[in-house]
Amino acid sequence: MTVQQKIQLQYLPSDLKPELLPKHVAVIMDGNGRWAKRQGLPRIMGHKRGVDALKDLLRCCKDWGVEALTAYAFSTENWGRPREEVDFLMTLFQKVLRQELREMVRENVQIKFVGNLNDLPSALQTEISRSMEETKDNRSIRFTIATNYGGRQEIVQACHAIAQKVEQGLLKADEIDEATFERHLYTAGTCDPDLLIRTSGEVRLSNFLLWQMAYSEIYITDTLWPDFDRSEFHRALSTFQQRQRRFGKVV
Ligand code: FPP
Repeated sequence: MTVQQKIQLQYLPSDLKPELLPKHVAVIMDGNGRWAKRQGLPRIMGHKRGVDALKDLLRCCKDWGVEALTAYAFSTENWGRPREEVDFLMTLFQKVLRQELREMVRENVQIKFVGNLNDLPSALQTEISRSMEETKDNRSIRFTIATNYGGRQEIVQACHAIAQKVEQGLLKADEIDEATFERHLYTAGTCDPDLLIRTSGEVRLSNFLLWQMAYSEIYITDTLWPDFDRSEFHRALSTFQQRQRRFGKVV
C-alpha cells in the first residue's frame, strides 16, 4: 500500500469500503439559482456558493481516495441564459482558476477542461491553458471541468476527427472500434464515470458525457448544489456501494 493510500484510508468513513469506491465521480451541479432565490439573493450568489461546494467535494474526493472528479460547469445550451448571468459565470470561472491554481498545484491536483474551449472568452482560455499546463504532471486526483460542453457535440467532433484520418489514409473504416472512438473523445485517457450525482431532484442527463455514462450508476438527491456537503457525498457513496453493477450481464 502506498503512503497516499494509507492517508486516504485514515480519512475514509469507516462504513465505506475502499475497494468499492467509485474511481471516477461525475456531478451535475444543479440548483444554484433556486438556492439563491430561497435565500432572497440574486441567482449569481448561488453560483458563488456553488464554487465553494465544488471545492469541498474535490478535497473530499482526494481525501477519500476517489481518482477522478468531473463537474459540469457550463453546457453548450447554457449560452441561452440571460447575458448578465453568462458573463458572470465566465468571469467567475476565470477568477476562481486564477485564485485557486496555487492551491491545486500544492495539492497535486491535475486540472483538465473539456468542451468546445475555442468559443470561450480569450481571457478565460488563457487561464484554462495555464492551469492545464501547470498541473499536467500532478497525480493525486484528476479534476475535469466540462465548460461549453455538450455530449452530442463531443461525439460529432470525434466523428470529424476520425473521418479526417480516414480521408488522409491514416485509418481504415473497418479499424474503427469503440477503443478508437474513445481515443477521439475529449475524455480520452480517463476511465468512464462509475457514479453520476445530480442535485436538486432533476432526473436527466442533460447532454452530459453521453458516451461515457453508458454504465454509470446514477444518484439523484433533492439537495440543492450549494448545500451538497461531505455528509451528502457520504450518503451517495453508501448508496453506490449497495448497488450491484452488472454491466448487462447476469451476476
Ligand atoms: C446550475 O444551477 C449551475 C450552473 C449552470 C453553473 C455551475 C457552476 C459552478 C458551480 C461554478 C463552477 C466553477 C468552476 C471554476 C468550475 P442552475 O443555475 O441551473 O440552478 P437552478 O436550476 O436552480 O436555476
